[in-house]
Amino acid sequence: MAYLEDAKPMKLGDIARLRASGEKIAMLTCYDASFATMFDSCGVDAILVGDSLGNVVQGHATTLPVTMEHMEYHTACVFRGMRQSFLVTDLPFGAYQESREQAMRNAARLLAVGAQMVKVEGGAYMAETVRFLVERGVPVCAHIGLTPQAVHQLGGYRVQGKGADAAAAMKADALALEQAGAAMMVIEMTPSDVAADITRAMKTCATIGIGAGPSCNGQVLVLHDMIGVSPGKRPRFVRNFIPDTGTVEGAVRAYVKAVKDGSFPAGEHGY
Ligand code: KIV
Repeated sequence: MAYLEDAKPMKLGDIARLRASGEKIAMLTCYDASFATMFDSCGVDAILVGDSLGNVVQGHATTLPVTMEHMEYHTACVFRGMRQSFLVTDLPFGAYQESREQAMRNAARLLAVGAQMVKVEGGAYMAETVRFLVERGVPVCAHIGLTPQAVHQLGGYRVQGKGADAAAAMKADALALEQAGAAMMVIEMTPSDVAADITRAMKTCATIGIGAGPSCNGQVLVLHDMIGVSPGKRPRFVRNFIPDTGTVEGAVRAYVKAVKDGSFPAGEHGY
């Protein structure tokens, strides 16, 4: 495959350049080497080894049972398959909330098996941890809005940031995380206008939406949702790309194209 032979691995600076140029960043979750190879050949900019593997691979109802060992294993599998995309891995629940030293220790384990950036859920209270990691050479992706690891605190998988006070609080969280050094920020299940306002307020941090409207700098979907194999009810923000394409590779290519040309997400996918 000429595309892969010529591949230049994506670096943090390439993500920043995509953001600055206005080109949308196409990100997908991935958990194994075969899909990672396919994603590379389809032009996926960034791969997220999400702790959503607890749901779609392990069959749990939440991401809470996922461990560091699981994240290391799947990151290593993905890393072996890929040559080009930018690799982000979730720190799982309980692996970074205790102290910034604990976060650093576990981030180092993920970087050792191939991750280029770690993702942490939470608002301004995570800023100190983000700064600690970034100052020690670990790129960080923040995750605000619906944060699945806090599902019991939030009372379910619900839209966040609704109403003026909640929207202002979320924007303050985003600004604090960017100031602490987060270079990327997932915004999940958040009204489109709130995510657009946060994206405008960011100076350098690339926002990646999932159920957060079309204005973010990029989009992410869980692979199994995007190809329609997740069990249960499909969330409103998901589009299954298989019916229009017929193959998994076609679906991945169509997803990348739709993110890049702005046709995904459409109005119907937003809140
Ligand atoms: O774990 C995951 O897949 C995620 C995405 C939903 C952004 O965090």
